[in-house]
Amino acid sequence: MKVLVAFGTTEGQTKKIADHIANTARAAGNEVETYDCAGHLSGQDFGSFDAIIVAGSVHQKLHQNHVAAFAAAHRQQLDTVPSAFVSVSLSASFEDGKAEARDYVESFVQDTGWRPQNTHLAGGALRYTEYDYFKEHIVRHVVMDGRDLPVATQDYELTDWDALDKFMTAFLESASSRVS
Ligand SMILES: Cc1cc2nc3c(=O)[nH]c(=O)nc-3n(C[C@H](O)[C@H](O)[C@H](O)COP(=O)(O)O)c2cc1C
Repeated sequence: MKVLVAFGTTEGQTKKIADHIANTARAAGNEVETYDCAGHLSGQDFGSFDAIIVAGSVHQKLHQNHVAAFAAAHRQQLDTVPSAFVSVSLSASFEDGKAEARDYVESFVQDTGWRPQNTHLAGGALRYTEYDYFKEHIVRHVVMDGRDLPVATQDYELTDWDALDKFMTAFLESASSRVS
């Protein structure tokens, strides 16, 4: 299959996730392209792809505008081929945050008009050593409010790579059975 992994990232974790998905899909024998939605131009044609994965991360309750613009612009194509949405957030990493993580996806659906056939909620990363004052304040006092990690100043990767692999393997198997 020809697979597209379209992603948006702000601090880099969703790019890491998109690259990991692309490598998994390649290892399964597919031809894969990654595409950064930040450079998205209207009128681009992705009609040659057999399956599409869209990945974006949440900041202040919203996925990146350019990921939403990509999904809205290619909604018809996303509904025609097997497709999946990977939503990356810190809330997804915590049991008591899953409902909120699902709400972010529902807002994305309302904004874009694209209801993904398959959705995976992936935990993101905390990059305290790279945040500016503003980002650190939001993460520490809003996103992580009431949620404790052993050290409040170091970086953490909260992505569950095994769960992501499981989701992608099932998606790719089901997609290839639909395509062939
Ligand atoms: C300024 C800022 C705001 C954030 N807002 C939220 C939020 O509202 N909800 C949430 O679950 N995670 C939030 N996060 C966590 C990000 O979703 C997480 O760090 C993710 O890994 C970012 O992905 P990226 O590196 O691909 O941009 C926020 C992170 C930052 C830095």
